[in-house]
Amino acid sequence: MSTSTESWQKHGVLENKALVMTLMVTVLITIGGLVEIVPLMAIDSNIPTIAAVTPYTPLELEGRDLYLREGCYNCHSQMIRPFRSETMRYGEYSKAGEFVYDHPFQWGSKRTGPDLQRVGGKYPDAWHYRHMEDPIKTSAGSIMPRYGWLLTDDLDTSLTTRKLQAMVTLGVPYSEAQVASADADRDAQAQRIADGLKAGGIDCAPTKEIVALIAYLQRLGVDGRTASGDSASAEQPR
Ligand code: HEC
Repeated sequence: MSTSTESWQKHGVLENKALVMTLMVTVLITIGGLVEIVPLMAIDSNIPTIAAVTPYTPLELEGRDLYLREGCYNCHSQMIRPFRSETMRYGEYSKAGEFVYDHPFQWGSKRTGPDLQRVGGKYPDAWHYRHMEDPIKTSAGSIMPRYGWLLTDDLDTSLTTRKLQAMVTLGVPYSEAQVASADADRDAQAQRIADGLKAGGIDCAPTKEIVALIAYLQRLGVDGRTASGDSASAEQPR
């Protein structure tokens, strides 16, 4: 009994003094926090980069912003887990290195619709056009909302260059030449997509928002589809 009373009294030195106690707790939490955070900032190789994964083109970057604006992440994840049930349905599972140019990444936390991490190249451009116009046209019984305005609204192109510059400040390795030609590159890619849609019987101006969104969707997961970002990727999960 006497020992526990004594040790309680020792605690009292700290615990009866609110200010000292608060200071000590703050110091302890700071040390704990630094120990966790500093290594993450100091170690570059924390996230293995994958050589095949390159930054988005200007048009894809614009399309990505539409994906954010429309809240597509509320129903779609971009994160394929390394389980057979997932890889059989969606393809190669996601690697950390595939998201190094995604600011912020779009992993999502809810799947009302399917995962979109590897949707790039899965369907023709025209499929996406019709699907966004009215999902029931391509997917019987779909509960996905219509996004008709993407087909009629013009893409706001006033900030493309600055968006690339913002990405550069976040560490995305766009070259000066790429930033300088952002507007021209965006328009050229949009024209190619519009030409392709036209060949498929869809008359869509290259300036429409849907064109940028299609560019983004068609890029998703393409770079990392076969790339190995870590040692485990050669193995198929069981
Ligand atoms: C309310 C939930 C919901 C929202 C919001 C939503 N989707 Fe979907 N999405 C679905 C469902 C459900 C499906 C499956 C049926 C279908 O194909 O339409 C789907 C399917 C898809 C597919 C086809 C995937 C595949 O592999 O077959 C794409 C691409 C897609 N959505 C893109 C988008 C984009 C882009 C947005 C935002 C502009 C969006 N979705 C917003 C629910 C949603």
